Amino acid sequence: MDPKLIEELKSVVGERNVLASPEDVEGYLRDETPRDVSPHPCRDVVVVRPKSTEEVSRLLKLAYTHEVPVVPRGGGTGLSGGAVPLTPSIVLSLERLKWIEVDRDNLTMTCGAGVTLGEIIQYLKSYEDIWFPLHPGDEGATIGGMVACNAGGARAVKYGVMRNYVAGMTVVLPSGEVLKLGGKLIKNVAGYDLMHLFIGSEGTLGVITEVTIRLKPRPRATYTLIIPYEDPNKAIETVPPMLRSGVTPLAIEYIEKEGIEAGEKASGEKWPVKAGEAYLMVVLEGMSRDELLNMSTAIADIAQEHEAIDVFVAEDRDQQEKILKVRSLIYEELKEKTIEILDVAVPVAAIATYVNKTREIAEKYGMKVVQYGHAGDGNVHQHPLKTGLKEEEWRERYPQLKREVFTLARELGGTITAEHGVGAVKVEDMLTHLTREEISLMRRIKRAIDPKNILNPGKVLPP
Ligand code: LAC
Ligand code: ZN
Repeated sequence: MDPKLIEELKSVVGERNVLASPEDVEGYLRDETPRDVSPHPCRDVVVVRPKSTEEVSRLLKLAYTHEVPVVPRGGGTGLSGGAVPLTPSIVLSLERLKWIEVDRDNLTMTCGAGVTLGEIIQYLKSYEDIWFPLHPGDEGATIGGMVACNAGGARAVKYGVMRNYVAGMTVVLPSGEVLKLGGKLIKNVAGYDLMHLFIGSEGTLGVITEVTIRLKPRPRATYTLIIPYEDPNKAIETVPPMLRSGVTPLAIEYIEKEGIEAGEKASGEKWPVKAGEAYLMVVLEGMSRDELLNMSTAIADIAQEHEAIDVFVAEDRDQQEKILKVRSLIYEELKEKTIEILDVAVPVAAIATYVNKTREIAEKYGMKVVQYGHAGDGNVHQHPLKTGLKEEEWRERYPQLKREVFTLARELGGTITAEHGVGAVKVEDMLTHLTREEISLMRRIKRAIDPKNILNPGKVLPP
């Protein structure tokens, strides 16, 4: 990295906020992507930690002038290598943009990009009547990263994804120009919606520095239902009838037994139900106990019509938190054993077919795939395990298995990534997943906004 550029970066953010030694940059080179599919990070990087939109703007002007790539970085919790520098770069960490302002009457909250999901949850605990309903996963994720990647997670069944929660944002373009988009509005049709172009652009079009998110009234209570099944197919087949029952759960998660065992191991907690080969975990929210009881009964009736073994209802907040912990830490435990974490989504009516056929494809290749995830959104994750295979075996078989699974997803009207993003890991797959016309239009948009291709190069768009 050019020492002159390093000096210029220091003049913007101060010496302490420019990290260039190998030890100091080490923690900024990777994200949570499984090692076997993660790109190798380029170690010739300098990390800068601005504290304001104005500093981000000055940094980008410098990078633009010197034509040095910039890799924006939030919490580093991504699963597709989106925050991994691939060439000599400036890693732009938004970690110091940490401030929160709640506007109760407008039901919004404006925060610096570096505020984490965990910090938002904690901050809103002091408000009895409002909350942020999404829970995209790792609580170390930052709001800037969650918006840049349009994160989803378990609660999308009722509340949708990050895109549905962004009311406004401040974003800095590669040239250093600052745009303030949207606001605290519900309706706004003044021209093309530029704000939505930046949501999900994975740091390739602009650097998001501030976000105004929508809040919702806080439910009085939640219940978590654990529904065990002997036959995994029956579990999944219960999902579409649940979705049209008139009860809209916060989450409907499908989890195979091996997933639960992994989550128990990582969390040190016990799953409350022993029986069953697969489970549905249904989270309900309501304004009263009566409302929750009625909803639970309706869901339990549907489950029983589909051969559920039992329905376990957790009412106690502590127990529900433990259950969520087991679910949330499945990936943590499987991370070392899995080759990749897939996040295909198909229309909900096709999930049973998708999950079954994926199992068959895996068996054909002599591989074990653990499946769990957001069944209520048609988005079930697959962990193809290396367990029991020699390295040369899984390295040969897995690309074929993945190709077949992606083809299946396409045939069922699905997407190759529902929430983890394209990053660096799925760039090549974009060529078969999208049409030539779509990719060409995306490239033209990228060129119009980032003509020197300095923002997160090598991500999202195939070369
Ligand atoms: C999950 C993450 C891996 O659903 O997407 O646990
Ligand atoms: Zn997920």
